Amino acid sequence: MSSDLKQPEQQAEQEEQSRKHELYVGQDAGFAEHLTAIRRHLHRNPELSGEERETTEAIRGWLVEEGVRIADEYSLRTGLIAEIGLDDGPVVALRADIDALPIQEETKLEYASQVAGRMHACGHDAHTAILIGAARLLKQRESRLPGKVRLIFQPSEEKATGARQVIQSGALSEVQSIFGLHNKPDLQVGTVGIREGALLAAADGFVVKVEGVGTHAAVPEAGIDPIVVASHIVTALQAIVSRNVGAQESAVISVTKINSGTAWNVIPEEAILDGTVRTFDEKVRARIRERFNQVVAGVAAAYGTRATVRWIQGPPAVVNDASLAAAAEQVASEVGLNSIRPIPSPAGEDFSFYQKEVPGLFLFLGTSGPHEWHHPAFDVDERALPLGAHLLAALAEESLQKLQSNGG
Ligand code: NI
Repeated sequence: MSSDLKQPEQQAEQEEQSRKHELYVGQDAGFAEHLTAIRRHLHRNPELSGEERETTEAIRGWLVEEGVRIADEYSLRTGLIAEIGLDDGPVVALRADIDALPIQEETKLEYASQVAGRMHACGHDAHTAILIGAARLLKQRESRLPGKVRLIFQPSEEKATGARQVIQSGALSEVQSIFGLHNKPDLQVGTVGIREGALLAAADGFVVKVEGVGTHAAVPEAGIDPIVVASHIVTALQAIVSRNVGAQESAVISVTKINSGTAWNVIPEEAILDGTVRTFDEKVRARIRERFNQVVAGVAAAYGTRATVRWIQGPPAVVNDASLAAAAEQVASEVGLNSIRPIPSPAGEDFSFYQKEVPGLFLFLGTSGPHEWHHPAFDVDERALPLGAHLLAALAEESLQKLQSNGG
């Protein structure tokens, strides 16, 4: 009896597994260094949403070096689209966001931002490097791809306007599935967070304007104090989450700004409240908006005045396709990643606009970060870069194969 005597099918299966493993994991040693260099270049030179001109030109340069075709027929002011693969056959898309934030970096890293008040504090530099890495891997295998992979380097994610620009450019035409990822500081490198359904929240905003009647601070009965009304509105809004949202549902309402008044002895004419509402479900989103308007109008009426609500509709929730999520778990294990089922995050992501058009999957890639997104000392563990590249390339190829076999 020897364990070396295997059935032929078993042996073939093991060879197939090790072939896949080698394809995606056994890359040249220079790959990780290359992606690190790209990420650090972008990190030193951050550009804000809509201003990513040098970033776009740098991406173009790196892709041209790999021999990847730039698809300038999909016209974007910043950001770009590229393609790898056959003109006939299915099309899948991979998306990275490329913009930075108006934050002063406080990392003291050798590759820290060289631009005052600008920082890649959400790791979109890493996402861009990962997608360029995926482009190299897919380009190496181009002759074996049963279709086409469209690479989307999307601008203006932080303003939640970039995905819509990409859709307007026509770059989603013929696309049958789309994949994207975000670094996750609280997941270890080597881990990927995959789940079907809601992963990130709808991120709406509001501005409430409370009308008052100004008067001397010592004679409040001669006016209507908008600060008292606004204070009651802030408190009453919190009851929407506790009284109108079910125990198995969830939502966040945060008032983040209160502006009113000019002097210590004057009751002002108005008060303005700004803030955000986060939800994972369209029904809860609609219910909160309705209750929000009722509460604001009702509290204002109780104090004999009026308040108006300007609702700022943000991106919807990121809701993952169940079959893409199930397939991704298999792909993740093939590229040597440990998959976990993450808790949904109340952050927003405009990847959700793509998912309104085609089935999509958004993943969390573990980056063992020292701080949360948007922190001035945010950083990513760069060992995650080649892992992310292998994962995206493998997801695109597997998805093309599946679409090809379903279609044929
Ligand atoms: Ni981000």
